[in-house]
Amino acid sequence: MPRTREHTDFGFRRVPLEHKQALVDDVFHSVARRYDLMNDLMSGGLHRAWKDALVTAVNPPPARRAQQPKASAQPFALLDLAGGTGDIAFRMLEGAASGTRATVVDINADMLAVGRARAAARGLDDAITFAFGIRNVPRIAAALGEAYRVLRIGGRFHCLEFSTVDVPGLAALYDFYSFNVIPALGRAVTEDADAYRYLVESIRRFPRPDAFAEMMRAAGFARVSFQRMSGGIVALHSGWRL
Ligand SMILES: C[S@@+](CC[C@H](N)C(=O)[O-])C[C@H]1O[C@@H](n2cnc3c(N)ncnc32)[C@H](O)[C@@H]1O
Repeated sequence: MPRTREHTDFGFRRVPLEHKQALVDDVFHSVARRYDLMNDLMSGGLHRAWKDALVTAVNPPPARRAQQPKASAQPFALLDLAGGTGDIAFRMLEGAASGTRATVVDINADMLAVGRARAAARGLDDAITFAFGIRNVPRIAAALGEAYRVLRIGGRFHCLEFSTVDVPGLAALYDFYSFNVIPALGRAVTEDADAYRYLVESIRRFPRPDAFAEMMRAAGFARVSFQRMSGGIVALHSGWRL
């Protein structure tokens, strides 16, 4: 009997699991040049506030002023998964203490191992961030398991992702905006409406915040918490490796 192929969501389409990554790669190849501009346009700049909330949650050590005594805190290392254009890493390093490091990883598993080795060798305080990326990976549970594996004990994982709007009036408005305005904007700015149709569909397929928190616990994370932002458009999930 032939083996049944495993399928997964690519937006609202069901695709063989092994095809998803190539489809996602096409999306980001197509929009990369205008990716940052589109984020500002689509969200009216709100993505900056969501990302700032992620930086606040990570809380990298701030740079000291000249007259302040030298801090004795150990250096801080950040591993930013699906880091794309480096937007999270740049924000994290802005105003951070010297010695703070950020490693940006984007679809390259070997980078995870490098980050882990560096952090372990230096006894660094470390954190992993994953912003607007986990929704795209074919095996979300496996990605969470890897994030857990490469964190040192005491390290923290923060995942910023689109979530579920629960405010009744806002939900209808958000759906209208998502399915009508965003693809049209995507076509005008990147000449690729499909990439942005995929964005809005993939958001609808992503687990609700309580279900995602449960997936994090299943991957081993402790003290899992989440914070909804902008009426649930986005949620920031955090957990520790203890
Ligand atoms: C929506 S962008 C987010 C970029 C950045 N984190 C930000 O918030 O601006 C999603 C990123 O995930 C990356 N990506 C998709 N699948 C991935 C995978 N399996 N592993 C690592 N990165 C992946 C894409 O290449 C893309 O750069």
